[in-house]
Amino acid sequence: MRLSRYFLPVLKETPAEAQIASHRLMLRAGMIKQASAGIYSWLPLGFRVLKNIERIVHEEQQAAGHIPMLMPTLQPADLWKESGRYDAYGPEMLRIRDRQDRDMLYGPTNEEMITDIFRSHVSSYRDLPLTLYHVQWKFRDEMRPRFGVMRGREFYMKDGYNFDVDRDAALHAYNRHMVSYLKTYERMGLQAIPMRADSGPIGGDDTHEFLVLADTGESEVFYDAAITELKFGDRVVDYDDVDACRAIVDEWTAPYARTDETHDAAKFDAVPEDRRRTSRGIEVGQIFYFGTKYSDAMGATVTNKDGEVVPVHMGSHGIGVSRLVGAIIEASHDDNGIIWPEGVTPFHCGIVNLRQGDTDCDAACALIEGSLIAKGLDPLYDDRDERAGAKFATMDLIGLPWRITVGPRGLKNGLVELTSRRTGESEEMTVEAAIDRVGQIYPRG
Ligand SMILES: Nc1ncnc2c1ncn2[C@@H]1O[C@H](COP(=O)(O)OP(=O)(O)OP(=O)(O)O)[C@@H](O)[C@H]1O
Ligand SMILES: [Mg+2]
Repeated sequence: MRLSRYFLPVLKETPAEAQIASHRLMLRAGMIKQASAGIYSWLPLGFRVLKNIERIVHEEQQAAGHIPMLMPTLQPADLWKESGRYDAYGPEMLRIRDRQDRDMLYGPTNEEMITDIFRSHVSSYRDLPLTLYHVQWKFRDEMRPRFGVMRGREFYMKDGYNFDVDRDAALHAYNRHMVSYLKTYERMGLQAIPMRADSGPIGGDDTHEFLVLADTGESEVFYDAAITELKFGDRVVDYDDVDACRAIVDEWTAPYARTDETHDAAKFDAVPEDRRRTSRGIEVGQIFYFGTKYSDAMGATVTNKDGEVVPVHMGSHGIGVSRLVGAIIEASHDDNGIIWPEGVTPFHCGIVNLRQGDTDCDAACALIEGSLIAKGLDPLYDDRDERAGAKFATMDLIGLPWRITVGPRGLKNGLVELTSRRTGESEEMTVEAAIDRVGQIYPRG
């Protein structure tokens, strides 16, 4: 992509309405535009990040054996009357009436709809285990939408639902989700700590939230510093291996880690004092096992091995895809702008031409651009006729992790500069070496 042809409406001034860094930076970098309170358009740069996050979510869900599908945003109220949540949900649910006077709603979540799909088509344990998921817009008429996309009213969420023949099988599904979530967040360059949580309106006994530590987080969290030492890394998981999944869950749930809702002062005091931490966190996901809550209410049953008809055991599992865009920025920025982790960056590498119109500089930039594209990468080439300072400021603001700078002086000796956004360190090298280096940074391009 060439910046001269792109749509990147960066703001010079700091928007007054934004209270936290991620919201400010998303507005300044031209990633989003508010349509109304808590509802945003995703401008091209923001859209690229949103889609990158969504892609990682899809890849990791499918690696865990979960099956993608798509349910609508608008749902009939009847399903929610069956579960009893039409009344229970309260004013957060956006209720709509269509021209036939039917009660509809904009889905805040999808337990009812997926249970209805399940009961229409599945009746035997032979079709289990089954986990279906989708990534779809949700609407919750939040009392105080704020912090940009972090607490929106319309937001993008991955929600998945497991169906299992009994409690043990459903607990394996729970563990499988926890493992796949740990991997998902790490690929986004985030540390999201699973913390024992409260179940809220979804209901159920077993639930963990995943929290990214950040001063601007809305939850107060208490944890043993040992948990921040854990790394998922590149371990290969067999998601059908019940013991292997449980072992990973045990590893991550052994150290104390809870939100204020479930905090237990006595247990926390048992953690060695030098490892006790109190902080704030951003909830970027939650997993639930809730047993037969919805299958009982809505008659979703299967015949088990012994020929008995039993209610199916379920859980639901959410990742805040749009919130993650803000959460990643909260975790990774500096005074000059965003610092994207490689896994989600909107463009892999920036190319800055210090003398637009100079034959050699233009040719070198075009060569770098073409070579990176040939490697399957997406570079963003700043080919505008602008001062160097303005080009650097834009690159720093939008946070591409790597930048190749091409100027007439270096080029005389065949050299360009490769700069890391994170460390600010620059290294001079040949054009070919810079292309190779960026290719090695993103091996999967
Ligand atoms: N209003 C919102 N705006 C953006 N993302 C949201 C919003 N509400 C929930 N999410 C995201 O969707 C995920 C799954 O939804 P869940 O039902 O667990 O939310 P929640 O517990 O009600 O969230 P919160 O406690 O922050 O209101 C959350 O972990 C969060 O990342
Ligand atoms: Mg939650």
